[in-house]
Amino acid sequence: MSDEITALQHFDDASLDTAFAALAEQVRRETASLSDPEAFRLHWLGRKQGRLKLISEAWLKSAPPEAKRALGIRFNQLKEQIEAALEAPAAGSSKTTVQGIDITLPGTLRTPGIPHPLLKTMHEIVSVFHHLGYSTNLGPQVESDFYNFEALNFPENHPARDTQDTLVIASQQSRPSRDRLLMRTHTSPVQIRTMIAQAPPIRIVIPGKVHRNDAADATHSPIFHQIEGLCVDTNITFSDLKGTLDHAMKALFGSDVKTRFFPSFFPFTEPSADVQISCIFCGGKGCRKCKHSGWIELLGCGMVDPAVFAAVTAERRKVNPSDDAYNPEKITGFAFGMGVERIAMMLHGVSDIGHFYSGDMRFLEQFA
Ligand code: DAH
Repeated sequence: MSDEITALQHFDDASLDTAFAALAEQVRRETASLSDPEAFRLHWLGRKQGRLKLISEAWLKSAPPEAKRALGIRFNQLKEQIEAALEAPAAGSSKTTVQGIDITLPGTLRTPGIPHPLLKTMHEIVSVFHHLGYSTNLGPQVESDFYNFEALNFPENHPARDTQDTLVIASQQSRPSRDRLLMRTHTSPVQIRTMIAQAPPIRIVIPGKVHRNDAADATHSPIFHQIEGLCVDTNITFSDLKGTLDHAMKALFGSDVKTRFFPSFFPFTEPSADVQISCIFCGGKGCRKCKHSGWIELLGCGMVDPAVFAAVTAERRKVNPSDDAYNPEKITGFAFGMGVERIAMMLHGVSDIGHFYSGDMRFLEQFA
């Protein structure tokens, strides 16, 4: 570093440019191999003995008043150059610390978020139905006995009402049984909420969290997710239900997939059916996953039971005594319900439901 301060003879713009270009070049050379940024800073910007200060004093003193402004502007530019060199490592510099910051250390990594595999599956299922003209409805997770069971035609002592299956909210005994609160055991109560609130036609899907007093194992969790569907209109038949679900299963699992419907029972549908799809692992030939049957049971469905329409009508008549929107002589409907975890496990070959809730990044990152 040359510390000599040569006096300026001329103060015209060209002479100033030459003098400052020499200084700028000196700064450039020093920053190209900056080993001690603090020493560099003191050398140029030190308050008392800094080179900039000394030069500016020497040159300003001898400068004619009309040149002071031009001189000042060039000093500021030089100062900015020095400060910029201190903020960023100089180009070509092999040194990695600037002002005590080791720029080779990994920075704060901000990984973009991804939808959780369960949410992703839920979106995929819901979107199949959106394309069929369905809209989405949501309902509360803390539900009353009326919506969760009574209006859905669950007989008084149906085992599903039993505390073995249902997680009930404490201290509800003093309430009338229909108002007692519980954690909803399925998304079906939102069917009731929707029909009470709106007249047909209805085409909705209801994704959401449900709770059961189940011990956790590889395929069970006390909290899981379902997607419910409801379609109510004039002339809705069982073949509409079959066609809709057959289409949905093909959209989700591939167009080769076949569906079949088995008689089943749900209190809120009549007739009811379980839907099976041809095994997506063996193509229906029979394997360990489908217990060598070639079929996998996936969801429940059925035609809305007239008793459900009756419960809905009774509620709607509390507001409008002549309401007849859900007269089973005029309208019919179908409903279905499926478990999201089960479908996500099949789609992605997940063998333990617990992975979904573990928060283990090694598992979750596979869905990025
Ligand atoms: N709510 C039933 C359950 O959790 C699933 C279900 C079956 C829903 C048939 C429906 C249906 O809407 O029609 O097991």
